[in-house]
Amino acid sequence: MDTSKINKQRHNLEALSEIWLFGYGSLIHKVDFPFIEKRTAIVDGWCRRFWQGSHDHRGTPQNPGRVLTLIESPGESCLGMAFKVSHQVFEHLDHREKNGYLRHDIELKFDDGSVKNGLVYIAEPGNAAYLGPATDTAIAEHIISSVGPSGENTDYVLRLAAALRKLGTVDEHVFAIEREIKRLTG
Ligand code: BEZ
Repeated sequence: MDTSKINKQRHNLEALSEIWLFGYGSLIHKVDFPFIEKRTAIVDGWCRRFWQGSHDHRGTPQNPGRVLTLIESPGESCLGMAFKVSHQVFEHLDHREKNGYLRHDIELKFDDGSVKNGLVYIAEPGNAAYLGPATDTAIAEHIISSVGPSGENTDYVLRLAAALRKLGTVDEHVFAIEREIKRLTG
């Protein structure tokens, strides 16, 4: 399902005095949009999981890849990158993330203790491309066998893991899938 039309109606972006977009996946390292400022940020109560199917980037409609979504998880936190952006950026991003992702409001915590409202793309459980949980080995095997217009699904995981290490954060799920991919591909 193409969520870009729904996203356009979800927020009156032009009315916002400033917009912070939270990136927890490829947005951390694949910044193909202009931004005014960027800062690491944390969202409490959410975690990253490779539970969303990708028909248009890291897989195909016949063989969807596995990419990230945010899953509600009380007690956990997710560190990512927040970008201060103009509303025009969403023309591009709503199209790029049209495969099941909806724009949500989320509270961002910055390392100086300040808190701001942000926007984030989340693919909710039950959307048409949702794949859900599987063992680390099954997820890694699936990712190894997937490729799409944006490249190899494996690359998506390895680049993200490297970017998270550079930010100094530990994400057990991402690092476990990275380990499994490296073990299986020798
Ligand atoms: C992100 O990197 O934050 C992101 C992940 C999935 C869809 C859109 C954005």
